Parts: sequence; C-alpha cells; structure tokens
Amino acid sequence: MHMRTAVVLAAGKGTRMKSRRPKVLHEVAGRPMVHHVLEALAACDVTQPVLVIGHGGDQVQACLGERAVYAWQQEQLGTGHAVMMARPLISEQVQTVMVVCGDTPLLTGATLAALWQCHEEKGAMATVLTALLDNPTGYGRIIRDEMGNVAAIVEEKDASETQKAIREINSGTYCFERAALFSALDEITPANAQGEYYLTDVLAIFRQRGGFVAAHKIDDNQEIVGINSRQQLAEAEAVLQNRLRRKWMDAGVTMIDPASVWLNAQVKIGSDTIIYPNTILEGDTVIGEGCTIGPATRVRDSRIGNHGVVQNSIVLESEVGNDCSVGPFAYLRPGTVLSDEVKVGDFVEIKKSVIGQGSKVPHLSYVGDATVGTGVNIGAGTITCNYDGEKKHSTTIHDGAFIGSNTNLVAPVVIGAGALVGAGSTISKDVPAGALAVERAHLKVKEGYRSGHKQKKSSD
Ligand code: UD1
Ligand code: CA
Repeated sequence: MHMRTAVVLAAGKGTRMKSRRPKVLHEVAGRPMVHHVLEALAACDVTQPVLVIGHGGDQVQACLGERAVYAWQQEQLGTGHAVMMARPLISEQVQTVMVVCGDTPLLTGATLAALWQCHEEKGAMATVLTALLDNPTGYGRIIRDEMGNVAAIVEEKDASETQKAIREINSGTYCFERAALFSALDEITPANAQGEYYLTDVLAIFRQRGGFVAAHKIDDNQEIVGINSRQQLAEAEAVLQNRLRRKWMDAGVTMIDPASVWLNAQVKIGSDTIIYPNTILEGDTVIGEGCTIGPATRVRDSRIGNHGVVQNSIVLESEVGNDCSVGPFAYLRPGTVLSDEVKVGDFVEIKKSVIGQGSKVPHLSYVGDATVGTGVNIGAGTITCNYDGEKKHSTTIHDGAFIGSNTNLVAPVVIGAGALVGAGSTISKDVPAGALAVERAHLKVKEGYRSGHKQKKSSD
C-alpha cells in the first residue's frame, strides 16, 4: 500500500487582505478557505494533513482543531522552507506527499484525486498541477525540455523575457516522493530574486538526479485561483455559490432566481423544495422535501421538516417539524422547536420554546421560555412576560388551551389543558385545566361625560 499524506501551506501573512484575521480563515460559502482545502483532501482520503502555520497560527489552530496537525514556521522564508517545517511530522512510512496551498478554496477533491492518479501512473518523482492561462503574470512558469517533460519552474521575478511568454503555470499543487523531496530540500538555497527557499527548485534537482517530473494539466482554470485580496475572495465566493446552486438544482431543488440565493457549503435541501429569491441558508441548515422557502428568508443552523412554508422570516438555531407554516415576518430565535403542523404567523417572535403539534401562534406575539402543548391557540398580541428584570421564567400552556387576544402571561405561570383565557387578561396565577380565567377591570360607561360630543347620527 502507498501511504500518502499532504502538507498545506498556510503560514503567509496575506498582506493584501488588510485584515487582522489570518488569510486562510477568511470564509467562502460560510467556511474558512483552508477548510475547503481540507475537505478536498479528505475527499481523496487524506485526513489530518500537516498544516504549516505562522501568521495568526494560534487562530488557525483554534479554528481547525483536530482536522490537521500543525507545523510552525516562525519566519516565512519561502515555500521550500515551509515544507521543511513539516518534515518532523511526516512518517518515514509515507511514500507520497501532496503539497497544496491553504488559500485555494476552489480546488476540488476530483482534481486532487486525478493528480494522485497521474503521479502514480507515471511513476514520477514529482507531479505538478499546471494550468494554461491567457495571462500568466505572477505565477511560476513551467519550463519543459525538448521531450516535453518538465525541466524546471521559474518564478516570474526570476524569469527571462522568453520564459515570461510561457503560458503554462505552476498552480502550487504537487505530488512528491517523500524521500526525494526532503533530500532535495536540503540542497536548495535562497539564491534568487526574492531571497527565498523555493519549493519549486527541487524539481531541477530531481532532474539532475535522473528523476522524472510529470505535469498534470487542469481542465478548469478557475480551480487553481489563490485568494490574495478581498476582490478575489468575492470572486471565489461567486464561483462556489454557482457550484452549490447547481448541485442542489441537480438534486431536485427549484430556485426561482438562483443568483439571489446564498448557500453555505454544508447546507442540505430536499427535493421538490422551491426557493424564492433573496434567501440565505447558512450554517448547518437542513431543509426537508417539498418546502417553500423565501422570499427574503434567512435560515441559520436550523432544520425545517418536509412540506414547510417559511416566508419573509428569520430562523436561527431552531427546529421546525413537518407541515409547518412560518411567517411572513416571523423571527424564530435559538432554541425554538416547532412540532408538526404548527403555524407561526406574521410578526411573531419565538425564543427557546417548544410548540406542540397543531398549535397556532398566528399574529403579533412574543413567546419566550415557554412549553406549549398540542392544539393550543394563542391569540393575537399575546406576550409571555418571561423576564422580571433579573431572571427569566417559564410559561407552560397545556394541550388544547385557548389564549384570548392581547393576553399577558406573567411567568412563571401554568395554563391547564383546555383552559380559556379571556382577551386582554394579565395572568399572574396558574389557571387550572378546563377553567375560564378573565382579568379585566369592570367596564364603566358614563354617558354625557363630555358635552358637545354627542353621538352624531350615522350617515352610512
Ligand atoms: C508560488 C510558487 C509559484 C506558483 C504560485 C501559485 C514557489 C516558489 N512559487 O508562488 O510557482 O505559481 O505559488 O500560487 O513556491 N507560504 C508559507 N510560508 C512561506 C511562504 C509561503 O506558508 O514562507 C504559503 C503561503 O501562505 C501560501 C503559499 O505558501 O499559501 C504560496 O505562497 P506565495 O507566497 O503565495 O507563493 P507565490 O510567490 O505566489
Ligand atoms: Ca500566491
């Protein structure tokens, strides 16, 4: 068996991002760019690659945790030097080492798998992932010999005019035979225009030793783009969003206006769901089958069951059962759990509450820290008064209760099963099952109280 691992280079500063955050932690499709690289490696069975960290390394390590093992590069002396830092963490049993940059979030697992395959088939000492670009400026150029084999890579800053005209470039992704790589790295020097230890210099050394260097040309040039600026970050975002939208449309999701739908990379959407414009599905969100989501809806870290309707609403860290209707203009805050067939209507806010099957909160309510049974109706304008200025208290409403409009439920309070609360009441004591509770001042009507304001005769 050929043992493989990978080294991910992520120690650079990313000066052009103008950020306090390390470059590789900037997000595309809702997750750090380096995380996309790790996902692509995981798709070819490389788990826990060696991540070379430097600038903001503590933050990178805190963010990625066990997904990688870490090698520190305190001073960024070049890509060759960076790979040397990974050496102590790579077992002698490893035969092949892939090297990838942490700032290329568009690289796919399929491309990396094709690179491994090409490397193994050709029995090369190194295989470089290359691309043919119309504008190769800034990249290292691939120098081929008269046989068409890779002879060397020359950096833009060290290249002659003839070399600069070469359009085939080094993507910065490679496979290397481990033993050959580390012994060649011992020989490289920083004698070049940038005074850096170039990883690319090992290729010429391989050739001197009689080794064969292969090139694998990529089909889709977009994949190799490295992110150096916020503009490139936005461009990568657009590419990834397109990929994600296509993936879900292929899986049976309708998007009325795909360009206005934003998806996190790990979102899942069931078939026959229709997504209306201006919808954002963030974090670990799972949408069931046959739902209608949007327009203008944001769902983050939530589950929506099958056949749900969520329109013009915000749903955060909540669980929504099957056949529920949410919105327009509802706000489900963290800890909300709606069972099946629940209706949460317009201008309703629910926080950290469980709403039982078939219950309805149709209009203008605040329900917080509450447990609501099945078949409950909560009238318009009902408020759970859950906060006394110091502590939060809970409200329990048992099955089949009916809460009249404009009720204040002063928590802690329990409304028994089937109880009826009269409209406009402020309920500060528990109401037993089946009881009627009304709290209303006696209505006084004093006729003729204001002279000159006698009722006019109705004209309609
Ligand atoms: C490198 C290649 C170039 C290739 C290009 C593709 C070399 C010498 N050149 O150039 O042929 O076309 O990538 O994008 O390798 N890094 C470290 N430590 C360092 C230096 C860099 O971790 O000391 C990391 C960076 O964070 C980055 C990656 O290595 O993720 C590439 O470094 P960068 O400086 O962008 O290399 P280029 O000069 O662009
Ligand atoms: Ca670069």
